[in-house]
Amino acid sequence: MFTLTDFNELIENQLFYNRNKSFFYTFSNGKLPIGLNEENRKTLKIKSNEINKFIGKTKVNFTYEKILKKICEKNIKLLTESNQYLYFDKEDYKNLQTIYDTLLEKIYILTQKTKIFDKDIDDLFDSHYKKLQEFLIQSNGVEIFKKYEEKPEIFPVKCAEYNPEFQIKLLNIDIFKIKEPVLDIGCGVEGNLVKFLRENGIEAYGIDRNLKGESYLFNKSWFEYKFKMNTWGTVISHMAFSNHFMHHHLRRDGDFKKYAQQYMKVLNSLKPEGCFIYGPSLSFIEDVLVMSNQPYSVDVGEHWTKITKVQ
Ligand SMILES: C[S@@+](CC[C@H](N)C(=O)[O-])C[C@H]1O[C@@H](n2cnc3c(N)ncnc32)[C@H](O)[C@@H]1O
Repeated sequence: MFTLTDFNELIENQLFYNRNKSFFYTFSNGKLPIGLNEENRKTLKIKSNEINKFIGKTKVNFTYEKILKKICEKNIKLLTESNQYLYFDKEDYKNLQTIYDTLLEKIYILTQKTKIFDKDIDDLFDSHYKKLQEFLIQSNGVEIFKKYEEKPEIFPVKCAEYNPEFQIKLLNIDIFKIKEPVLDIGCGVEGNLVKFLRENGIEAYGIDRNLKGESYLFNKSWFEYKFKMNTWGTVISHMAFSNHFMHHHLRRDGDFKKYAQQYMKVLNSLKPEGCFIYGPSLSFIEDVLVMSNQPYSVDVGEHWTKITKVQ
């Protein structure tokens, strides 16, 4: 019998096989580096009948949607881990789910056949990977993938997590004077700074994608998080929000406006005399803030910016 564990294993093998391959490179024979793992191809042929029954059963016992959701979450996690500048909103999740729904449906139909040919499998997966390419461009634009056309393997995009002492020093934060509560946006999967502040008796929270565990660490995108007015004593973001804002500012097809709007929401969420401390600095928007009539004062250091809400 083919079980959910077997199915999950197929998915894991597949994701692992493609994990460092480029979606946008094409070999001279027209093939993509990304593709179906040979082991999975064999399983698909040998166990076609069982796989067909398994998919059929998930449709009856309502686990089909759950499986689709899980596949999409895993995919998006891998994508954002491979390049931290990739971003997928709720609509993108839905679109990706539709792509995998089509793939599973096609596998379901294919596995009803008495004999499966390699050509059928190739056609099915070629069309799937084309759809994934389109999905990536439609969700993240063209420019971010230009470099992926150069090599069959993806290139590493640095996304480190730093120790709390380093972050505090670099951002020029005095933890004895810090105004509570504190929110660290893009705090990292470990939430190093949040944990350190809490160990020092400071009420601190963090948000990041792909977070798990502690109740004070919110597993959310900074675009999905509701920044309520007059809430935070201090908002911190080290090498996270402002770094991404800068990336979109510099990118020709970047989502500058979305970042500018969210930046203002963060400022609005500060309590009077509360501050938003971040690095790297964003002179292009800080200059506008200084010239505006908005109730904020702007201090800029070598590696940090501190925006304070004046009363
Ligand atoms: C370079 S790391 C910095 C982590 C931490 N601030 C530090 O200095 O150790 C950038 C973080 O931003 C997070 N990030 C990127 N895009 C995000 C988004 N849209 N919403 C929430 N977090 C995001 C990444 O998951 C990553 O953990």
